[in-house]
Amino acid sequence: MTVTSTARRSAALLLALGSMANAQSVFKLDTDDEIRASARTLAYDTMLYYHGNETGQTPGILPGPPPGGDYYWWEGGALWGTMLDYWHYTGDSSYNSVISQALLFQVGEGVDYQPRNHTASLGNDDQGFWGMSAMLAAELNFPNPPSDQPQWLALAQAVWNTQAAPDRHDETCGGGMRWQIPLSNNGYNYKNTIANGCFFNLGARLARYTGNSTYMKYAEETWDWLVNIGYIADNWDIYDGAHVESNCTDINKAQFSYNAAVLLQGMAYLYDFTDGSQRAMWKTRIDGLLARTLEVFFPDNIAYEVSCEPGLTCTTDMYSFKGYVHRWLTNLVQLVPDTADKIKPVLKTSAQAAVNQCVGGDSQRACGFSWKSGKFDGKMGAGQQMNVLAAVSTLLVDSAKGPLTASSGGTSKGDVNAGSNSPYQREHAPITTGDRAGAGILTVIVLAAATGTFGWMSWER
Ligand SMILES: *[C@@H]1O[C@H](CO)[C@@H](O)[C@H](O)[C@H]1NC(C)=O
Ligand SMILES: *[C@@H]1O[C@H](CO)[C@@H](O)[C@H](O)[C@H]1NC(C)=O
Ligand SMILES: *[C@@H]1O[C@H](CO)[C@@H](O)[C@H](O)[C@H]1NC(C)=O
Ligand SMILES: *[C@@H]1O[C@H](CO)[C@@H](O)[C@H](O)[C@H]1NC(C)=O
Repeated sequence: MTVTSTARRSAALLLALGSMANAQSVFKLDTDDEIRASARTLAYDTMLYYHGNETGQTPGILPGPPPGGDYYWWEGGALWGTMLDYWHYTGDSSYNSVISQALLFQVGEGVDYQPRNHTASLGNDDQGFWGMSAMLAAELNFPNPPSDQPQWLALAQAVWNTQAAPDRHDETCGGGMRWQIPLSNNGYNYKNTIANGCFFNLGARLARYTGNSTYMKYAEETWDWLVNIGYIADNWDIYDGAHVESNCTDINKAQFSYNAAVLLQGMAYLYDFTDGSQRAMWKTRIDGLLARTLEVFFPDNIAYEVSCEPGLTCTTDMYSFKGYVHRWLTNLVQLVPDTADKIKPVLKTSAQAAVNQCVGGDSQRACGFSWKSGKFDGKMGAGQQMNVLAAVSTLLVDSAKGPLTASSGGTSKGDVNAGSNSPYQREHAPITTGDRAGAGILTVIVLAAATGTFGWMSWER
């Protein structure tokens, strides 16, 4: 080997090392201080996508909905849940006033998270995501709004009340809720797991928080329906949904991680709320669904969106799912202690993989979505940032309190009648005899319209 070629080789090596150094993540997770510092930067980068508190912008929402911007209304609700958890796990209250303003601005005319501005994409799941964030605010004892403003618990109850109303549970498919709320929306003919899963989740949490078992009764009914209709399969696969025209037999078997996670989180609350044989029953179900969830969505112990990630077909919505899974599985660690040993090592490995690929963008620390590949995939966005923020902040679970209840320190004020001024409640009031002829014609029109969109899937909004 000549001196020249050695020199050339070292130069090449230095170059290679240089580019490796560039691809080195700035986020460290080895100590709690490093985790807090990483989460702080991730929260900052996430909030760069939010402009709602700037002059002339609408508080609460991410830029959108399409085509005006990338994000549907619901993802704003999901962002605030992520930021509430960020505050809770890290103790950084810098964003609390922004979070509060956002959650209060979007309550809508009926104070039940069905704002008129967003009826065109208003699904029960969309409303549910905002409701679950309000519920989280109550459970975390997030500072209560002034008394002349809506309160967190009452907002969660308003969402639940509007969804528990008979008009949301028609007879097609033997019950269950439809995906969309307004009957003119695309997707009104689809009954899916996420819409019903959010209702299940909220009911479970309201039961535990308030001690009122009526909420649990509805959650159990929803669970039974999901099992009977076949969306929760015997092997614990969780399917997406089906159409009312087939009486929900044309099941779309695509599996999305947030469907499994929204059910697991709700189950954890019911496990904590119940005792005796009921508690044992929920534990058996939790063990079954948890094992399958880790198997399907965490190959190599790294979060993976199996229905869209391999084919690069994930939508903006889907780009945010991994964060919910990390956050909601962390609630299992808190409420079902026996699951901690199974969950924590997986979430830790997954979070490390998540930060490893956050080396993109001008900042060289933007996150993509392909955690398992170990490489930044160029797909930046609010969801991708929220995912990693969630994965990192929840690593602090051991030093954070679990969700509170009204009897363990939760101070949010409720209202069992909240949501009774809902515009949709009036529009779709339970059918009386006098309405039946009209309702029949409506059904024919809806069915005719629905046939045109038959085969259309829940993620193609
Ligand atoms: C909006 O919120 C961000 C935090 O995300 C903050 O830095 C900024 O000052 C706020 N802007 C206004 C106009 O309040
Ligand atoms: C509804 O949209 C209008 C027009 O963009 C906006 O001014 C208003 O603040 C929005 N209201 C809500 C609750 O988002
Ligand atoms: C529709 O599905 C429900 C639930 O599986 C079932 O109880 C009902 O009998 C079915 N109706 C028809 C007409 O097949
Ligand atoms: C329990 O919740 C149900 C459903 O909202 C409500 O009708 C009932 O009044 C509540 N019971 C109590 C004691 O608050």
